[in-house]
Amino acid sequence: MSYIEVKAITQSFEREIDAIASDKSISHRCAIFSLLSDEVSHIKNYLQAEDTLNSLNIVKLLGAKIKREGKEVWITPPKEIVEPPFILDCGNSGTAIRLFMGFLASYKGFFVLHGDEYLAKRPMRRVADPLRSIGANIDGRKNGELAPISIRGAKLDGFRYESSIASAQVKSAMILAGLNAKKTSFYKESELSRDHSERMLTGMGAKLKMQEDGFIKIEPLNSPLKALDITVPSDPSSGFFFAVLAAITPNSKVTIKNTTLNPTRVEAYEILKQMGADVEFVQKENIYEPIGDIVIRAKELNAVTISENISWLIDELPALSIAMAVADGKSIVKNAKELRVKESDRISTVVQNLQKCGIEVYEREDGYEIVGGEIKSAVVDSYGDHRVAMSFLIAGSRCNIRVEDVECIKTSFPNFTKILSEFCEVKVGD
Ligand code: S3P
Repeated sequence: MSYIEVKAITQSFEREIDAIASDKSISHRCAIFSLLSDEVSHIKNYLQAEDTLNSLNIVKLLGAKIKREGKEVWITPPKEIVEPPFILDCGNSGTAIRLFMGFLASYKGFFVLHGDEYLAKRPMRRVADPLRSIGANIDGRKNGELAPISIRGAKLDGFRYESSIASAQVKSAMILAGLNAKKTSFYKESELSRDHSERMLTGMGAKLKMQEDGFIKIEPLNSPLKALDITVPSDPSSGFFFAVLAAITPNSKVTIKNTTLNPTRVEAYEILKQMGADVEFVQKENIYEPIGDIVIRAKELNAVTISENISWLIDELPALSIAMAVADGKSIVKNAKELRVKESDRISTVVQNLQKCGIEVYEREDGYEIVGGEIKSAVVDSYGDHRVAMSFLIAGSRCNIRVEDVECIKTSFPNFTKILSEFCEVKVGD
């Protein structure tokens, strides 16, 4: 089992990073949405990480032709979706499995979606149930709750569905189903989750309308969509590890270049600002979404209480917990039960690791409380969760920390360790 050790940082820094991994959510969507067109989609800066390469492979098994040159990808969609002779392997990705469920539910054929041991434990009924209620033939272990998931494509009814979960994965799955349904559909979520699907599909010509009552109106497609022509921006969730590194290293500054500034994705930076860090957003362009740089400068950090817009923070809370662990006072995270069903149970894994680092921390059913203090040298576990692994490697910049089982980093940010080694001494071992 591989591990990484990080030694305490010895110097303050001022740096620009333009090698942050490309956005994972947008890359998955590029692969899947290209199947809704009849033209060649052209994607620059596609994320070269395990999760998103798995999605490209699935799109290929469904009949698309893929041409790849480095990070540049051309996807020629098939005339008709092909019934693949293999299981569609989503690896570690909840986004892939859930979006493909919504997409494939209405296509003729039999499809089986599966993933790794962590994905196989994550809840799928949140997508399977609403899809089944409109006529989809979907099954899986535990009455459709767990992968492997089988789908026999069927004609779907239009729907009016109100989700109690603010989840972009559930929303996107239902939008994809609605685009191929018999009638107009309506979807509402409890709080707005990341909205890449709405922005990208609208840009491709889909008729999606956000109504005043909070429902998204989804018109079925009557012709193929326009192809995508997009440069994927950097992933603000990946960039956030280095934002925290700068925020907790006295007299330091980092610029995360060319990232999406979509408000549903930069809330963690806003929280860091609320905690006292100096954070500046510099918008440069708008292609499907606002894109630009984020500049973070260290300042004394104070504790914070977080109880809203949790879906905008769901991927960054592990890294934010490192900032909380060195901030002045007690930080509180509430209403964050969804953290329990991510790549790991992030409430429990963050709490266990912080305890190993000597931080006073209390686990709650829907979050945690962290009393800021001094992070101590420790050996911690990734629990197979890439974001937990990278968060605690950033914590290692305060003292020496070793994170075990770091293979998972490859799922979203393969060059993370290389970038980190430009800031602190890093040792990789088996
Ligand atoms: C994602 C949505 C989020 C997020 C995940 C990516 C997406 O999950 O945690 O990393 O691309 O739609 P939920 O929508 O289930 O909260």
